[in-house]
This record gives sequence, structure tokens and C-alpha cells, in this order.
Amino acid sequence: MSANNLSSPLAELARLRLLPILTLNDPALAGPLAQALLNGGLPCVELTLRTPRALESVKVLASRGDLLVGAGTIRTVENARAAVEAGAKFLVSPACVPDVLAWCRDNGVPLTPGCVTPSEIELAIAHGCEVVKFFPASNFGGPSTLKAYAAPLPNVRFIPTGGISQKTLPEYLALKNVLAVGGGWFAPADDLQNNRFSEIEQRVRTAVEIAATISSIS
Ligand code: 3PG
Repeated sequence: MSANNLSSPLAELARLRLLPILTLNDPALAGPLAQALLNGGLPCVELTLRTPRALESVKVLASRGDLLVGAGTIRTVENARAAVEAGAKFLVSPACVPDVLAWCRDNGVPLTPGCVTPSEIELAIAHGCEVVKFFPASNFGGPSTLKAYAAPLPNVRFIPTGGISQKTLPEYLALKNVLAVGGGWFAPADDLQNNRFSEIEQRVRTAVEIAATISSIS
């Protein structure tokens, strides 16, 4: 599958090749965080729905108009509906939940469901998913597992996440079936709690530089 055939938020992720995954409770942090991402050269983010006020941050960032905003940790149809209402343009799930797969397909919402086995991947494809999240990547064989999927599952693109770091990023980006690489390492909780936005910006900039040296998928 060419990146050009993907629905537009996923095509944008294919172009950017990186997906910062952030867990925010305080929506007041969303603005400075967005600025750090943009200054570092990365106009996209996945906000996890793991805190009571996560949807408020989705709303704040989605209303800016200068960032592609997705919502993660989508475990139920209610999560999916609320995230889309808050402005999320794509959804990310840690698992293949049949109700969520069906709802996203029926509503034309791009979803990358969490898959680790070929059976889960086929279930996601059967529900119209174009790209799946390979999670948690480092626990399930990392790049070596993704390489093994390339021949039998040639039409699948992955967003590996979970346990990836700046150090292991190039191994994932080098794989033809990797659409983009996601992770929380861009903005660790400690940096967020202490308002260390320049460190976050620098980490983003370094990852963008690494991605630029590795050719993108065709
Ligand atoms: C997640 O869903 O939390 C992501 O996979 C991020 O994992 P990481 O923090 O290990 O990068």
C-alpha cells in the first residue's frame, strides 16, 4: 500500500514518521507542549485518555488548527465517540476491540488498533484498518517481529510503540512496513511536571533529524 492511498491523518503520519504520545492531566500544559512540538518540527500528537481531564487537552490542542491531534487508549465505543467529539482526527487503541473496530469503520474514523499477532492484524484489516499499532513493541520482539511480518502480510503498515527510545528509533524507522514510530520518550512525565519544555523541544528536534536521515516508506 502506498502512503498516498491512506486516509489523510494516516498519510500525514506517514510523512512525519514520528508520533509523540503524551499523557496530560492539566490542560494548561497543552499550549506550551504544543509549542515545544511545533518548535521541534513535529506538528502531530497522540494524547492518551488515561487521566480524568485528558479530553480537555484533546479539545485545546485540536482547536488550535496547527497540529494533527489523535487520541489514544481508546478501549470502548464511548471513548471513541468522546474523542472524536473533542476533535481527535485519528484514534489509537491498545487492543483489537471488535466494537471499537466496527464503530470506527462505520463512522469513517481512522483507527490504529493494537496488534501483536497475525490473527489480530487480520482482524483489524477485516474491519478496514489500513495501519495497525504494534504494541508493546519492545516486549513482542521489536524490529525482528516486524521484519517477519513483511512477507506474509505485505499490505500492512505498522506504528510500533511501547519501550522504544531515541536509541532504538533508527532500527524501527529503517523498516519498510513501519509507517511511523510512536512513543512517550519525547515528553516524559518528569519533564511535564517540571515545565521542562525546552528539553522536550530538543528531544523532538533530535528525533526529527534522525527520521530525516532515514528514507520514508513508498
Ligand atoms: C503508550 O501507549 O503508552 C505508548 O505505547 C508509549 O509507550 P512508551 O511510553 O513506552 O513509549
